[in-house]
Amino acid sequence: KPSKTQLLDQKNAEAELGGGQKRIDAQHKKGKLTARERIALLLDEGSFEEIGKFVMHRTRDFGMDKEHYLGDGVVTGYGTVDGRLIYVFAQDFTVFGGALSETHAEKICKLMDLALQNGAPIIGLNDSGGARIQEGVLSLAGYADIFYRNTRASGVIPQLSAVMGPCAGGAVYSPAITDFIFMVENTSYMFVTGPNVVKTVTHESVTAEELGGASTHSTKSGVTHFSCANELACIQNLKQLLSYIPQNCEDEPPMLAYDAGGDEMRPALNSIIPDNPNQPYDMRGVISELVDADTFMEVHTNFAENIVVGFARIGGRSIGVVGNQPAVLAGVLDINASTKAARFVRFCDCFNVPLLVLEDVPGFLPGTDQEWNGIITNGAKLLYAFCEATVPRVTVITRKAYGGAYDVMNSKHIGADMNYAWPSAEIAVMGASGAAEIIFKREIAEADDPQAKLQEKVLDYTEKFANPYRAAHRGYIDEVIMPDQTRHKLIRAFKMLENKVATMPKKKHGNIPL
Ligand code: COA
Repeated sequence: KPSKTQLLDQKNAEAELGGGQKRIDAQHKKGKLTARERIALLLDEGSFEEIGKFVMHRTRDFGMDKEHYLGDGVVTGYGTVDGRLIYVFAQDFTVFGGALSETHAEKICKLMDLALQNGAPIIGLNDSGGARIQEGVLSLAGYADIFYRNTRASGVIPQLSAVMGPCAGGAVYSPAITDFIFMVENTSYMFVTGPNVVKTVTHESVTAEELGGASTHSTKSGVTHFSCANELACIQNLKQLLSYIPQNCEDEPPMLAYDAGGDEMRPALNSIIPDNPNQPYDMRGVISELVDADTFMEVHTNFAENIVVGFARIGGRSIGVVGNQPAVLAGVLDINASTKAARFVRFCDCFNVPLLVLEDVPGFLPGTDQEWNGIITNGAKLLYAFCEATVPRVTVITRKAYGGAYDVMNSKHIGADMNYAWPSAEIAVMGASGAAEIIFKREIAEADDPQAKLQEKVLDYTEKFANPYRAAHRGYIDEVIMPDQTRHKLIRAFKMLENKVATMPKKKHGNIPL
């Protein structure tokens, strides 16, 4: 009979072996790490405190009373990342394929309750065959308990999900409610119904990777925010994202030390805008000049590339950047760009991350595809997200700010705090030639030389409106600045705004157009 110490040691060793060495080897063979290896990579060394290590399921059906694994397929606990508290759960694929049972869900819920109560981020490392089939509705109830907590915690503590294996059926909806999803290329997939069901119902033949792999969700659907080359990269990305965000909605993002004596002029910006207003340039080039060196962490890099969003630091301060991307579709706003940016703006607003908007937008994308799929409702999401944001908000118009898109992109009128424009800014209802064709239609048609008349009118309109000064005369633009001064201005503006207090009228919650 083992001593009390031996018994404890035995149980610890048993729990740490999960579903056994054979299944651990199988996991490694697939190029995947185990739950415990993942947690070890994520957390500061020696900081992990496990909770519920000896939890077992309570099922008796289908011979399950004879099959028990301590921990029941999920490792849960808390620890630190760069010294800051986080809660983490990692599903253990070696135990019943990481399938979610009643008790597995209870462990996750206990952790979520602690994270919410104590105001720290929670990270889920998902790798699961879905509902524990032997448990039926108990497993479904477990999912719902998690979804309910995800929703209640939304906007209170940051919730991050990494998908590092299967995540199918109901299991997808917990990550979907969380703030950011990270997926690992080639070893993870997410779908509501798998390839077999798809084949039966729609007769489409599709592989799991095509249907719901990282590349699909990072380009076609936008479900995942980060597509990571491997598990190590995934965990590094998770940590990097944590460095930009606060512990909870009442906390501020960590501020890094910054030497204010540095030279903030960025002369390269003076030649970044092409002379021809229709020639594209990469807004990422503007971002990298403006923010602290190598601090831009792009979100949704390959989805709706006509808008660029991500975290960065400026003068050591964490900010969220939203920039139209003239290099893709001329930077127009379409449905995907609007929803992508709206969700990012709302995250930043939830968690006190100030917003920098870089604007070069010719308007909304025309066409039946966009109209029939609801560009009105979806464009309104971005408008709504900016209107309700109470964090410090600064806009720089680099070139075009046309039509309704001018209003939407963090204009002064919808609550932006500081609005700058470069001399190259064109703030107007539309481009000069379109405008001239409409308002001088008859005059042009009746002219002896309509083409010359059009040119004359275009020039006239350009002179009057294709500049930032009309807006600056009205105070809609606070200052017209040279591009090379912009970084300096932004550092000062965000510092000036750091104690901003703004509140929304009392309400239960708003009704964002969904
Ligand atoms: N419930 C209970 N056990 C499950 C399970 C589930 N939902 N999913 C997988 N398992 C078990 C398997 O029985 C197997 O057990 P074993 O180690 O004792 O042999 C183990 O997990 C690994 O599964 P396996 O099928 O061998 O792994 P795989 O990598 O080849 O395939 C899946 C992974 C997820 C594609 C596959 O297991 C699967 O299709 N599972 C069912 C998914 C599902 O329909 N879930 C319910 C709806 S949400």
